[in-house]
Amino acid sequence: MAIRQIITDQDHKVLRGKAKRVGRIDDSTRQLIDDLFDTMRVAPGVGLAAPQIGVPLRVIVVEYEGQRYAFINPEIVKQSGQVTDEEGCLSAPHWQGPVTRATHVTLKGRDRDGKEVRVKAEGWLARIFQHEIDHLGGTLFLDLVQDRSLIHWVESDASGEAEGGEGDVARSARRRARDTNGAATGDGQQGRPSPRGQRALKPQEAEL
Ligand code: NI
Repeated sequence: MAIRQIITDQDHKVLRGKAKRVGRIDDSTRQLIDDLFDTMRVAPGVGLAAPQIGVPLRVIVVEYEGQRYAFINPEIVKQSGQVTDEEGCLSAPHWQGPVTRATHVTLKGRDRDGKEVRVKAEGWLARIFQHEIDHLGGTLFLDLVQDRSLIHWVESDASGEAEGGEGDVARSARRRARDTNGAATGDGQQGRPSPRGQRALKPQEAEL
């Protein structure tokens, strides 16, 4: 188990660079995937891309609703729909803001054994994949927030907090308020219902 440091310097050249395609998939690739999973879990978060730990390679991991995904050289081959929702990032701790993304994506890439895999995703999982693939091109979600005034600081992130801690409650309450009353909370959702309905995100679900 190796926990690597997550880069939070938003000007870091690996975080901001274009990651390289992985040529041969070997034990070092698999070690990288294991390290990404370990680091993501401890953070905790639901997605992590290799450039976030200083490795300029096209590798991402995602763990969401009990499913684990590791993609080497991932590409989005199909996408549809559009939705705006709040995001966060392990490389920009505490910051959140609304990003418009496709609601449905089909991803193609290779797994840890080099086998070609395709995954269809929708909703929050589709958002996570899009966010992680952006990291491979040096793009942070903050770059995609159209109205910069909507970027806001969230007091407490998930790190070091048990579920149900103060931050969790506060964030859930904020999300519920937003979900039921979008425009009134001034978050730019214009009263559109959240695609996730009334379900409040767990704090780490916003950490991509
Ligand atoms: Ni991120």
